[in-house]
Amino acid sequence: MNDPIIECRALTKTFSSGTEVLHILERADFSLDKGKICTILGPSGSGKSTFLAILGSLERFDSGSVRIDGYELQTLPEKSLFVFRRSVVGFVFQFHFLLNDFNALENVALPGYMAGLSRNEAWKRAQELLDLVGLRNRAHHYPSQLSGGERQRVAIARALINRPSVVLADEPTGNLDAASAKELRSLLQRLPNVAKTTLVLVTHDPELANIGDTSFLLKDGHFECIR
Ligand SMILES: Nc1ncnc2c1ncn2[C@@H]1O[C@H](COP(=O)(O)OP(=O)(O)O)[C@@H](O)[C@H]1O
Ligand SMILES: [Mg+2]
Repeated sequence: MNDPIIECRALTKTFSSGTEVLHILERADFSLDKGKICTILGPSGSGKSTFLAILGSLERFDSGSVRIDGYELQTLPEKSLFVFRRSVVGFVFQFHFLLNDFNALENVALPGYMAGLSRNEAWKRAQELLDLVGLRNRAHHYPSQLSGGERQRVAIARALINRPSVVLADEPTGNLDAASAKELRSLLQRLPNVAKTTLVLVTHDPELANIGDTSFLLKDGHFECIR
């Protein structure tokens, strides 16, 4: 049975700079079923990051509709968007954006704490998530004491703290060596199962793109299904 957790219809997004109008998405359709992994490829500048930012409600769109886990983004008031960003979606970027003055456990726990979990609950969940990403014995390490791959795994744990329905990852292996990228790939592949989530993954690493149940190529404002 089809159960799309993400559904975009006739999604249109332009950027204007001076007199030039950039057409990023032109009435693009996209849908993804719950619990699946979708990978998105496309030339640099085709709009992959912009699309993820739209899904995460960090970026507005011109027209069309975006529904994620029952939330209709085009009509959601700013106050609900805040809740949406905090608890429905989780973000992982190419750069980890961990806070340098906090250890791994604190970095993971913080967004949970800020979303209203008790201190104990946030810490307990963070510990479980560090276990999940294989970093049980790195909880008290600071970002500067972790390898690039470990930092990205902390960033994944952090993205999961508020139990998001959807995880949005933008070139998460872009800064990693081959061995770390391989480890991260296997973690991302297991994510829907172990964290009960759906994953949208932008990458230009063909091996990482392979973990997708489906793959799309973003080109000329549209998604073309390539697998
Ligand atoms: N805030 C912005 N204002 C104007 N143009 C932008 C803005 N953000 C991105 N762009 C342009 O939109 C295009 C798509 O960008 P992006 O989504 O980052 O592409 P990708 O992630 O596929 O490389 C690029 O040409 C970029 O320069
Ligand atoms: Mg990008």
